[in-house]
Amino acid sequence: MSLIEISQVLNDSELGTGLRESVYMFPFIEGLHLIGLTLSVGLLFFVDLRLLGIFLPQLPVAQVLRPLRPWLLSGFALTFVTGILLFIAGAAKIIVLPIFFFKLGFIALAGLNALWFELKWGRKIDSWGAAPVLPVTVRLAGVTSLTLWSLVIIAGRLIPYLGYQ
Ligand code: HEM
Repeated sequence: MSLIEISQVLNDSELGTGLRESVYMFPFIEGLHLIGLTLSVGLLFFVDLRLLGIFLPQLPVAQVLRPLRPWLLSGFALTFVTGILLFIAGAAKIIVLPIFFFKLGFIALAGLNALWFELKWGRKIDSWGAAPVLPVTVRLAGVTSLTLWSLVIIAGRLIPYLGYQ
């Protein structure tokens, strides 16, 4: 089965049809997708701004990151679950949109950037994170994260515009 055929099956399923045709369910799920992204990407922006020395430079990075981490991870979980539901609701039209694959690509790159940061810097955060001006590769990870997540949001916003004309 090709990706297009799988998407058609999802699109025509009871769940896909129900979500698409319900006046309230689709906007409700879309609203949760946006709430999830304020918690995930929104909070991550503040961590990235701390890495750049712009937000609360006097606070160690760990003190910014640790209390936000559970909120941030829950936000990502909510965004991903609702994103999959939004996809199922419009799968047949969305799967042929290049912008959807750009969005997934930006998410994957942002995820790799976060993984690299976690492995290289995250484990010994207490040894470097107190300085107001952080090592250049740490700042670079912050800029990369801000850029990629912004591109994810723009690509996400373009899906309904390019998909339902
Ligand atoms: C943290 C990751 C994500 C972010 C920041 C994000 C962001 C967005 C944004 C800003 C929108 C536009 C909402 C609107 O127009 O009102 C959107 C829509 C959408 N997202 Fe995501 N998204 C993420 C993850 C995902 C995932 C993992 C999927 C599916 C695999 C997905 C599928 C969709 C779909 C299908 C729409 C279009 C809904 C419609 O037709 O209006 N998203 N996303």
